Amino acid sequence: AAMTSGAARERLDMNEYRERLEARLGKSREMMRVVLNKAKSDPKRVALAEGSNEKMIRAAYQMQEEGIAEPILVGNTTSILRKAEELGLDFDPTIANPRDGEWDHYVDRLYELRKRKGITESEASELIRRDSNYFASIMVEIGDADAMLTGLTHHYPGGLRPPLQVIGTAEDANYAAGVYMMTFKNRVVFCADTTVNLDPDEEVLAEITKHTAELARRFNVEPRAALLSYSNFGSVRNEGTAKPRAAADILQNDPDVDFPVDGEMQADTALVEDILEGTYDFAELDDPANVLIFPNLEAGNIGYKLLQRLGGAEAIGPMLVGMDKPVHVLQRGDEVKDIVNLAATAVVDAQQE
Ligand code: ACO
Repeated sequence: AAMTSGAARERLDMNEYRERLEARLGKSREMMRVVLNKAKSDPKRVALAEGSNEKMIRAAYQMQEEGIAEPILVGNTTSILRKAEELGLDFDPTIANPRDGEWDHYVDRLYELRKRKGITESEASELIRRDSNYFASIMVEIGDADAMLTGLTHHYPGGLRPPLQVIGTAEDANYAAGVYMMTFKNRVVFCADTTVNLDPDEEVLAEITKHTAELARRFNVEPRAALLSYSNFGSVRNEGTAKPRAAADILQNDPDVDFPVDGEMQADTALVEDILEGTYDFAELDDPANVLIFPNLEAGNIGYKLLQRLGGAEAIGPMLVGMDKPVHVLQRGDEVKDIVNLAATAVVDAQQE
């Protein structure tokens, strides 16, 4: 009898688990649908720097089939076509092969941009022909593509550095940052910075907050931002807690900021309505925050992974904000659906240009 009830309980747990999984995926699908529909209304050219990668080819096929983007696979033409055929994908992809064709103007542009940063003309030529991240970055910089995706086969900083060097930050930005959108059953939060800035000061934190709030609006989410720390509104005062406090101050005094923001505060203060309405009823936030700004890269990177692995959130990202053109650097091991989701986000970004 004990065995039966154990098995029954397990089955019940499994059902409950499945239901929860369904609900959670429902929310993330709903969030992504907003972006996928926007992307389809005006698809843009997305350069896939790792064009010979099988997942990239599958993703390109899906983007083209569904009209989400016009993918450009950067890589060797013969090998891309052979792989597409092996994968049984019946399509005629746009390919840019850095090893053939006339790419002298790409070399010239890279040299122009980087000659005072230590690159010689022959090095620029090598980079264009052999490093597809430089090739794709120039492609976007020159306007032959509207957005770029890379990262599947690279160590994250290695994929990030070429676009930082070539495309750089937007006019109103000095720092790029990586944002993850985490979806739960009835809730969505945007976490930043999870991938770029090791030890941001208050200016960087303030900028990241603004860009993350803008990104939330692309998903039709009205942002409410919290600068996180391990203290609440000055309850512990030191160099660490001072930065998010100062960042909140900068944002609250910025006439361009049109969303509620406060800090520094602990994560539970940011997320639990009773705490915001009770002990800290003076806070600028009346409802729980949905833009969570972490005090440094350790906290941000660890935090979003805990939400994903223990909290059961679905993660979409890392979406790079603050860049002059839409660029996203994937993580090694990301799946086709992650690539397509980020491509859609990049297309929506490119539509605003
Ligand atoms: N925002 C915008 N541009 C930047 C930033 C930034 N935060 N940091 C550097 N840059 C620019 C620089 O201005 C420079 O441009 P320039 O050459 O035209 O002057 C260019 O990028 C290269 O800068 P470097 O200082 O040479 O590059 P650095 O070696 O510092 O690398 C990088 C920059 C890659 C962002 C580095 O800070 C880094 O490694 N960050 C952490 C990445 C990481 O490990 N993330 C966690 C794991 S990722 C994950 O979990 C998905």
